[in-house]
Amino acid sequence: MSDEQSALAARAAAGSGLSAGLLGLLRRHPRDGWQRAAGLAGSGEVWLANHRHFRDLTGRISGGVAALRDGRSAPDHFDGLFRHDLGSLLAGLDGHHRIEDHHYFPIFRQAVPTLAPGFEILDADHTALHAAIHDLAFAGQGLLRALGAQAQAGDDRLADAAARAAEDAAAVLARFGLLLGRHLDDEEDLVIPLILERARADPDFG
Ligand SMILES: [Fe+2]
Ligand SMILES: [Fe+2]
Repeated sequence: MSDEQSALAARAAAGSGLSAGLLGLLRRHPRDGWQRAAGLAGSGEVWLANHRHFRDLTGRISGGVAALRDGRSAPDHFDGLFRHDLGSLLAGLDGHHRIEDHHYFPIFRQAVPTLAPGFEILDADHTALHAAIHDLAFAGQGLLRALGAQAQAGDDRLADAAARAAEDAAAVLARFGLLLGRHLDDEEDLVIPLILERARADPDFG
């Protein structure tokens, strides 16, 4: 496991967010006031909506794999939606991280230099998540291959190899969901208060 993965996994396991020293703006702009804040309109809203979309997709994929594994859904109904959702999640996250790394984080670092260590953590999270994305794609392909082989054999129940692949995919998804969830929460805690704070002085900020 890389240093970046170990660091994100440790934060996820502890359920702890960023250190208090990085959360001064969050104390001024707590979560329960974000939706009512005028400065959220625009990039803050889009940011939260994108994160919600990634959380929802991860939850839907996990639910689909669990239903397949537990025999609550038939293998022949699984392939299309799983392919679509997994592809959408992995490509969407990749594009989202690129925009953050190359566009938003440099602007935010420059706007509030004292928060630079926080953006270094988020940057390292992206590296960790890319490895997790790779693991998830690999597990997803394994599951689709096992289901494809089973379909060719004309078996409409979940055969042993496919059941094992579904179990593996469920475990990889559970880990992925924990890492992604921790990253999204921590990023929001750093970014949204920063956007709200700066929007007071410059409504076009971000
Ligand atoms: Fe991110
Ligand atoms: Fe993000």
